[in-house]
Amino acid sequence: YATPASPSHLNPHPARKVAIPPYQKILRKFEDVRRILPKKHLTLAEKILYSHLANPEESLLTSTNNGDNIRGNANLKLKPDRVAMQDASAQMALLQFMTCNLPSTAVPASIHCDHMIVGEKGADTDLAESIKGNKEVFAFLESAAKRYGIEFWPPGAGIIHQTVLENYAAPGLMMLGTDSHTPNAGGLGAIAIGVGGADAVDALVDAPWELKAPKILGVRLEGELSGWASPKDVILHLAGLLTVRGGTGFIVEYHGSGVDALSATGMATICNMGAEVGATTSIFPFSSSMIPYLKATGRGSMIDAAKGIAYGPGPYNFLKADTDAQYDELVRIDLSSLEPHINGPFTPDLSTPLSQFADAVKANKWPETFGAGLIGSCTNSSYEDMTRAEDLVKQAATAGLKPKSDFFITPGSEQIRATLEDSNTLQTFSSAGGTVLANACGPCIGQWKRTDGIQRGDSNAILSSYNRNFPGRNDGNAKTMNFLASPEIVTAMCYSGSTSFNPTTDSIGDFRFQPPKGMHLPSRGFSMGNPDFQPSPARPDHSVNVVIDPHSDRLAVLEPFDAFPEADLKLQVLYKVKGQCTTDTISAAGPWLKYKGHLPNISENTLIGAINAATGETNVAYDFDGSKYGIPELAAKWKSQGHSWLVVAEDNYGEGSAREHAALQPRYLGGRIILAKSFARIHETNLKKQGIVPLTFEDKSDYNKIDALDAVEPVGLLDVLKSGGTGHVELRVTKKDGQPFNIPVKHTLSKDQCGFVLAGSALNLLAKKGRL
Ligand code: F3S
Repeated sequence: YATPASPSHLNPHPARKVAIPPYQKILRKFEDVRRILPKKHLTLAEKILYSHLANPEESLLTSTNNGDNIRGNANLKLKPDRVAMQDASAQMALLQFMTCNLPSTAVPASIHCDHMIVGEKGADTDLAESIKGNKEVFAFLESAAKRYGIEFWPPGAGIIHQTVLENYAAPGLMMLGTDSHTPNAGGLGAIAIGVGGADAVDALVDAPWELKAPKILGVRLEGELSGWASPKDVILHLAGLLTVRGGTGFIVEYHGSGVDALSATGMATICNMGAEVGATTSIFPFSSSMIPYLKATGRGSMIDAAKGIAYGPGPYNFLKADTDAQYDELVRIDLSSLEPHINGPFTPDLSTPLSQFADAVKANKWPETFGAGLIGSCTNSSYEDMTRAEDLVKQAATAGLKPKSDFFITPGSEQIRATLEDSNTLQTFSSAGGTVLANACGPCIGQWKRTDGIQRGDSNAILSSYNRNFPGRNDGNAKTMNFLASPEIVTAMCYSGSTSFNPTTDSIGDFRFQPPKGMHLPSRGFSMGNPDFQPSPARPDHSVNVVIDPHSDRLAVLEPFDAFPEADLKLQVLYKVKGQCTTDTISAAGPWLKYKGHLPNISENTLIGAINAATGETNVAYDFDGSKYGIPELAAKWKSQGHSWLVVAEDNYGEGSAREHAALQPRYLGGRIILAKSFARIHETNLKKQGIVPLTFEDKSDYNKIDALDAVEPVGLLDVLKSGGTGHVELRVTKKDGQPFNIPVKHTLSKDQCGFVLAGSALNLLAKKGRL
């Protein structure tokens, strides 16, 4: 792999082919959509999505009332243009893809080694160490990429979403990514959806990928940002308005006069964090700032192609919403009066305007100081973000100030890192005492080795420009409160070290920051950086063997799951979860990331973050004789005894990420049903793909009637599965010593998904149908 020592290479962009979406094909489909729905005024998201349907007629007419009520009802069977995978989720996606015995992927795909790089001392040391520690996995990914013709971006090349934005995202593109923040590409007018590995495999094998037609939430932007307010504040504010559940089932579509003044990278930041409101994805219309960004990233040839479909006559007016398009919900944001926001702790929707934050710190007894400020990541490492932060560092340096908190900078890609090196921005950060980490996820995904003395269990605060702040996410310490803000606010607050400091109004001694100034794009275009960080070519080479050591504890070949039994199930409640249950709760990250390619090993973390509804304990389950177990231990015990089980949970079960392990692991350990008050969309789909049935209470208060160790028999489930999704299901619940009673429940199984469950998993079904 490329060594981290990377003197800046001010090379022109290499002669890589520009990845232009198949516009002619997309437009032909779009003409079909116009013909099928002649009177409909379509939103931008609908135009792009429906133009990627395998069969527009079938999806738009047959499954709906003749083209009415498509949103929220129709099952869209989609053919995405491309797939991107990060290293942690790519392992399982590739292991699944390999079971299909295909010579190459059906659509262009890329792998990005970013999640497994630790952040500690700085890029040079950390990258070399991480490569050493993960050699086996990177070698597996690289060999599989070469064999199947997937572009492989080595460790150090950058974070998936930044690399995608710089190389693959394009107006009108539709892509899937095995990471929740894939919607980042919406900043360049793409429909980009975060999915689990099994969904990615659908696209990789040319099977249609199914999605319930999302509703469209319009966000009308008016006015213009100024002073301290940044694109990040748009989404921090919106997250407060919508909450983590508010975008579920929606695509967030931005429009309005305020769009034009936003940079492409700023729009990407906004779309990136749309994942935090649970949205299927977020998108901006083709706008003037996309043109210089495409040019600066070496994709001038895409501009004419995009303009051709954006502004053409009739059906070619493709890259913006029709004038009379209707939104299912509408939010207005006045950018001119928007102030910076700080969101958190522990949830990204707890949004506080900066001017009220000091009071909130006092009222909530949040820590008065914070130990570290972290900027960059896939969310906020654009040239604009970094040069605005640099301006603040320079202002403070003139006054002789140094940051009081530790200050970390994560460039999103080698391209941005090298460009910032050339403009001396990184040197400015380093001279102020900042630590520049590798071009990788690092502290954003629990790969942060803190050296400031904070121990597990110590309550403390940090500030970051990241997107997510669930407990334990950054340093594995559930007591670390991560407050999310723009890079500018994080940087300026580092100079005070106080959570109550408002850099827009307060002074440090005699010094007061002026609003930051930066540049959207580097005046001389982006540098390529170290050529060793370029990807491998997308040419399948069948002479390459994908080798998995049978004794590896990191990688294991997948065994197919068993089919659904020919009689209704008999289950026991393994665990009743209280409160939030994110994919981090179900399949923790941090040190467990290294077992992503080894299902038996990673299953030992199943639900270890879940709170027992009866006792309030975390990861403590009880067997029938009263003995105490960790949840995965009890599940494994029941599996060995042949008992299948279900989990009972509250709202938005599986929120947080596309992590398919959160579905695979319970399935591997014998889970058959998850019964919840509601589900996060991606996770609900992931469960069905792995053969687990997600059910919701018809009456949420029935959650109170069912407990751990209750016996549960689904009534009517087999009939529903066999009929392709029609009919009702009830759960017959029997307490240890009580009379049975029924709980009515709801399912969202489509015909195809019923097939997945009956076959044992989606891949089992594909294999059975002989499609592979
Ligand atoms: Fe990586 Fe964090 Fe983004 S894990 S992909 S930097 S959200």
